[in-house]
Amino acid sequence: MADPQAWIRSANVRAAWVGEVDGKIVGHVSVMRPQGEDAVSMWIERSGDDEEHVAVLARLFVLQEARQHALGAQLMRAATSWAQGQGIRLVLDVMAKDAAAIRLYQRLGWTKIGEATHPYGEGQLMDAICFAAPDA
Ligand SMILES: CC(C)(COP(=O)(O)OP(=O)(O)OC[C@H]1O[C@@H](n2cnc3c(N)ncnc32)[C@H](O)[C@@H]1OP(=O)(O)O)[C@@H](O)C(=O)NCCC(=O)NCCS
Repeated sequence: MADPQAWIRSANVRAAWVGEVDGKIVGHVSVMRPQGEDAVSMWIERSGDDEEHVAVLARLFVLQEARQHALGAQLMRAATSWAQGQGIRLVLDVMAKDAAAIRLYQRLGWTKIGEATHPYGEGQLMDAICFAAPDA
Protein backbone atom coordinates (compact mmCIF):
# COMPACT_ATOMS: atom_id res chain seq x y z
CA MET A 1 0.00 0.00 0.00
CA ALA A 2 1.45 3.33 -1.07
CA ASP A 3 0.18 5.43 1.85
CA PRO A 4 -1.11 3.36 4.78
CA GLN A 5 -1.49 6.42 7.05
CA ALA A 6 -3.84 8.10 4.59
CA TRP A 7 -5.78 4.83 4.22
CA ILE A 8 -6.21 4.43 7.98
CA ARG A 9 -7.09 8.12 8.48
CA SER A 10 -9.56 8.26 5.58
CA ALA A 11 -12.26 10.93 5.92
CA ASN A 12 -14.76 8.11 5.42
CA VAL A 13 -13.87 6.67 8.83
CA ARG A 14 -16.44 7.72 11.44
CA ALA A 15 -14.84 5.87 14.34
CA ALA A 16 -12.18 3.22 14.88
CA TRP A 17 -10.84 1.06 17.68
CA VAL A 18 -7.68 -0.93 18.22
CA GLY A 19 -7.02 -3.90 20.50
CA GLU A 20 -3.77 -4.08 22.45
CA VAL A 21 -1.86 -6.88 24.12
CA ASP A 22 1.12 -5.85 26.25
CA GLY A 23 1.13 -2.39 24.69
CA LYS A 24 1.23 -3.72 21.12
CA ILE A 25 -1.62 -3.08 18.73
CA VAL A 26 -2.84 -6.45 17.49
CA GLY A 27 -6.35 -5.71 16.24
CA HIS A 28 -8.44 -3.05 14.55
CA VAL A 29 -11.98 -2.28 13.45
CA SER A 30 -13.59 0.80 11.97
CA VAL A 31 -17.00 2.23 11.22
CA MET A 32 -17.15 3.88 7.82
CA ARG A 33 -19.52 6.13 5.95
CA PRO A 34 -21.38 4.21 3.21
CA GLN A 35 -19.55 4.13 -0.12
CA GLY A 36 -21.93 2.14 -2.30
CA GLU A 37 -21.65 -1.18 -0.47
CA ASP A 38 -24.20 -3.86 -1.37
CA ALA A 39 -25.03 -4.37 2.31
CA VAL A 40 -26.05 -0.71 2.65
CA SER A 41 -28.53 -0.78 -0.24
CA MET A 42 -29.88 -4.16 0.89
CA TRP A 43 -30.46 -2.84 4.40
CA ILE A 44 -32.10 0.39 3.20
CA GLU A 45 -34.41 -1.56 0.92
CA ARG A 46 -35.32 -4.00 3.66
CA SER A 47 -35.75 -1.54 6.55
CA GLY A 48 -36.73 1.77 4.96
CA ASP A 49 -33.95 3.46 7.00
CA ASP A 50 -32.24 6.42 5.34
CA GLU A 51 -28.52 6.31 4.57
CA GLU A 52 -27.77 8.84 7.34
CA HIS A 53 -28.63 6.14 9.85
CA VAL A 54 -26.53 3.36 8.32
CA ALA A 55 -22.77 2.83 8.55
CA VAL A 56 -20.40 0.08 7.52
CA LEU A 57 -18.37 -2.03 9.91
CA ALA A 58 -15.07 -2.59 8.10
CA ARG A 59 -11.38 -3.28 8.44
CA LEU A 60 -11.82 -5.87 11.16
CA PHE A 61 -8.53 -7.64 11.66
CA VAL A 62 -6.75 -9.42 14.47
CA LEU A 63 -3.13 -10.51 14.04
CA GLN A 64 -2.79 -14.26 13.68
CA GLU A 65 -0.92 -14.69 16.98
CA ALA A 66 -3.61 -12.80 18.95
CA ARG A 67 -6.61 -14.69 17.56
CA GLN A 68 -9.00 -16.90 19.53
CA HIS A 69 -8.85 -14.77 22.70
CA ALA A 70 -12.12 -12.92 22.05
CA LEU A 71 -10.43 -9.75 20.82
CA GLY A 72 -12.42 -9.90 17.57
CA ALA A 73 -15.63 -10.16 19.60
CA GLN A 74 -14.56 -7.23 21.82
CA LEU A 75 -13.79 -5.03 18.82
CA MET A 76 -17.17 -5.90 17.32
CA ARG A 77 -18.93 -5.05 20.58
CA ALA A 78 -17.12 -1.71 20.85
CA ALA A 79 -18.23 -0.74 17.34
CA THR A 80 -21.81 -1.95 17.72
CA SER A 81 -22.38 -0.27 21.06
CA TRP A 82 -20.98 3.01 19.72
CA ALA A 83 -23.30 2.76 16.69
CA GLN A 84 -26.33 2.00 18.85
CA GLY A 85 -25.56 5.10 20.91
CA GLN A 86 -25.54 7.15 17.71
CA GLY A 87 -28.79 5.63 16.42
CA ILE A 88 -26.90 4.04 13.54
CA ARG A 89 -27.43 0.57 12.08
CA LEU A 90 -24.20 -1.18 11.17
CA VAL A 91 -23.99 -3.43 8.15
CA LEU A 92 -21.07 -5.23 6.52
CA ASP A 93 -19.97 -7.26 3.55
CA VAL A 94 -17.74 -10.27 4.21
CA MET A 95 -16.05 -12.51 1.66
CA ALA A 96 -17.72 -15.92 1.69
CA LYS A 97 -14.26 -17.49 2.18
CA ASP A 98 -13.72 -15.70 5.53
CA ALA A 99 -15.28 -18.45 7.63
CA ALA A 100 -13.93 -17.32 11.03
CA ALA A 101 -15.36 -13.83 10.53
CA ILE A 102 -18.74 -15.23 9.46
CA ARG A 103 -18.90 -17.43 12.57
CA LEU A 104 -18.10 -14.37 14.70
CA TYR A 105 -20.88 -12.26 13.14
CA GLN A 106 -23.41 -15.06 13.55
CA ARG A 107 -22.36 -15.68 17.14
CA LEU A 108 -22.91 -11.98 17.92
CA GLY A 109 -26.43 -12.09 16.47
CA TRP A 110 -25.87 -10.40 13.13
CA THR A 111 -28.44 -11.26 10.45
CA LYS A 112 -27.62 -12.30 6.91
CA ILE A 113 -29.43 -9.87 4.60
CA GLY A 114 -28.18 -11.06 1.22
CA GLU A 115 -25.37 -12.18 -1.04
CA ALA A 116 -23.27 -10.24 -3.53
CA THR A 117 -20.41 -10.71 -5.97
CA HIS A 118 -17.41 -8.42 -5.69
CA PRO A 119 -15.01 -7.70 -8.53
CA TYR A 120 -11.30 -7.79 -7.63
CA GLY A 121 -7.92 -8.05 -9.32
CA GLU A 122 -8.12 -8.35 -13.06
CA GLY A 123 -11.69 -9.24 -13.88
CA GLN A 124 -12.10 -11.83 -11.14
CA LEU A 125 -15.19 -12.18 -8.94
CA MET A 126 -15.52 -13.12 -5.29
CA ASP A 127 -18.68 -14.18 -3.45
CA ALA A 128 -19.62 -12.04 -0.47
CA ILE A 129 -22.29 -12.21 2.21
CA CYS A 130 -24.03 -9.14 3.63
CA PHE A 131 -24.93 -8.85 7.31
CA ALA A 132 -26.77 -6.32 9.50
CA ALA A 133 -26.19 -5.78 13.21
CA PRO A 134 -28.85 -6.94 15.67
CA ASP A 135 -31.35 -4.53 17.23
CA ALA A 136 -30.08 -2.66 20.29
C1 LIG B 1 -12.30 -12.73 12.10
C2 LIG B 1 -11.24 -12.35 13.14
C3 LIG B 1 -11.21 -10.82 13.29
C4 LIG B 1 -11.64 -12.97 14.49
O1 LIG B 1 -10.74 -12.50 15.50
P1 LIG B 1 -10.51 -13.29 16.90
O2 LIG B 1 -9.88 -12.34 17.83
O3 LIG B 1 -9.85 -14.58 16.66
O4 LIG B 1 -12.05 -13.55 17.32
P2 LIG B 1 -12.58 -14.25 18.64
O5 LIG B 1 -11.42 -14.68 19.49
O6 LIG B 1 -13.60 -13.37 19.23
O7 LIG B 1 -13.31 -15.54 18.05
C5 LIG B 1 -12.58 -16.49 17.28
C6 LIG B 1 -12.73 -17.92 17.84
O8 LIG B 1 -12.02 -18.04 19.08
C7 LIG B 1 -12.86 -18.62 20.07
N1 LIG B 1 -12.44 -18.12 21.38
C8 LIG B 1 -12.57 -16.86 21.86
N2 LIG B 1 -12.05 -16.80 23.11
C9 LIG B 1 -11.56 -18.03 23.39
C10 LIG B 1 -10.88 -18.57 24.50
N3 LIG B 1 -10.61 -17.85 25.60
N4 LIG B 1 -10.51 -19.89 24.45
C11 LIG B 1 -10.76 -20.64 23.37
N5 LIG B 1 -11.40 -20.16 22.26
C12 LIG B 1 -11.79 -18.88 22.28
C13 LIG B 1 -14.25 -18.18 19.65
O9 LIG B 1 -15.26 -19.00 20.20
C14 LIG B 1 -14.15 -18.33 18.14
O10 LIG B 1 -14.30 -19.69 17.78
P3 LIG B 1 -14.85 -20.14 16.32
O11 LIG B 1 -13.99 -19.49 15.28
O12 LIG B 1 -14.74 -21.62 16.34
O13 LIG B 1 -16.27 -19.65 16.23
C15 LIG B 1 -9.84 -12.88 12.75
O14 LIG B 1 -9.95 -14.27 12.48
C16 LIG B 1 -9.24 -12.19 11.54
O15 LIG B 1 -8.58 -11.15 11.67
N6 LIG B 1 -9.43 -12.79 10.36
C17 LIG B 1 -8.86 -12.23 9.12
C18 LIG B 1 -9.52 -10.95 8.70
C19 LIG B 1 -11.00 -11.07 8.43
O16 LIG B 1 -11.50 -12.08 7.95
N7 LIG B 1 -11.70 -9.98 8.76
C20 LIG B 1 -13.08 -9.87 8.50
C21 LIG B 1 -13.30 -9.20 7.16
S1 LIG B 1 -14.98 -8.73 6.91
